[in-house]
Amino acid sequence: MNSSTDILIIGGGIIGFSLAVELKLRGASVTILAGELQQPAARAAAGMLAPQAERIPPSPMLDLCLQSRALYPAWVEQLEDITGLQTGYWRSGILAPVCQDQDYEKPESSNLNAQWLDGDAIRQHQIGLGEKIIGGWWYPEDSQVDNCALFRTLQTASKKLGIEVIPDSAVEIIRQGNRVLGVKTTAGKLQADRYVLATGAWSKQLLDIPVFPRKGQMLSVCVPEDCAVTQPLQMVLFGTGIYIVPRQDGRIIIGATSENVGFTAGNTPAGMQSLLAGAMKLYPELQNYPLLEFWWGFRPATPDEFPILGASAWENLILGTGHYRNGILLAPVTAKLLADLILERKLDPLLAAFDYSRFAESLGVENGE
Ligand code: GLY
Repeated sequence: MNSSTDILIIGGGIIGFSLAVELKLRGASVTILAGELQQPAARAAAGMLAPQAERIPPSPMLDLCLQSRALYPAWVEQLEDITGLQTGYWRSGILAPVCQDQDYEKPESSNLNAQWLDGDAIRQHQIGLGEKIIGGWWYPEDSQVDNCALFRTLQTASKKLGIEVIPDSAVEIIRQGNRVLGVKTTAGKLQADRYVLATGAWSKQLLDIPVFPRKGQMLSVCVPEDCAVTQPLQMVLFGTGIYIVPRQDGRIIIGATSENVGFTAGNTPAGMQSLLAGAMKLYPELQNYPLLEFWWGFRPATPDEFPILGASAWENLILGTGHYRNGILLAPVTAKLLADLILERKLDPLLAAFDYSRFAESLGVENGE
């Protein structure tokens, strides 16, 4: 194969598909080199849109996350209109319970909507919380999307819009001087005017940038059939090292471990035990809920835990990777800002904080030295 397109997106995860759809809707010719779609980071997620519950301190990162959270309603509506599918976007709010043995410092972003609920108030807010919970922070503007449904919706939107999705994997980005000349794939060579690297945790296999995998194990249960309601949990519960994300159809997603074990695959007894123990402490009723699934994924982490967005050392290669814990949340803003950059050469000032050059010292020869 030796084909040509205007923009070639290397990477078939949530970021690659989100950007492809945005570019196509703005009239560009775009192709996705999707790879084998093996356990993308979208799987190591429960779809929380949680800049506040994640306690991201006031910073360009918080601004980026808040912008993206604000884009979500219109973004998913557009995708649902294109496809006729549902993304499971739900303004459920996120409750961060605090247990006896924890502190409950006020969130740093005091101008954002966050309410402290004491022991009585939190139990009125959500029935069935664990007895060790003494109160908690309520973030009404944090929300959630069904990350797997969102991914399917993006794939379907790409198909409906006529975006070519190539299932092969990138093997090498062919570079000469300050330009990318093509991408060697498992099935031949691809060429484009411009390229986007969106290969998440696998980015370092193609380019010397500091992105490494951080494994997340997850599991799901479902509300028993004899329960009086489809879903007794009406908000996300966000604890320390544990979160519980209810879906409106009765499933409940429990996540996630955070492990520096490279690309070691599989669920482990220790991982499952820590998730189940943490979840039952927050919401004891779960102990009787039928188990549905176990899975894992690899978050694309960077040394400062911020994404790498924008220009690279090669004038026709754009970077969109390293979203770590916030890839689902940041998908719409990443698509918007990178499409502005690629198609209009518009550089949003916010992108400066996410430039690859902040890692220049560790980039060595890949930085053009
Ligand atoms: N966004 C939550 C996680 O990465 O576990």
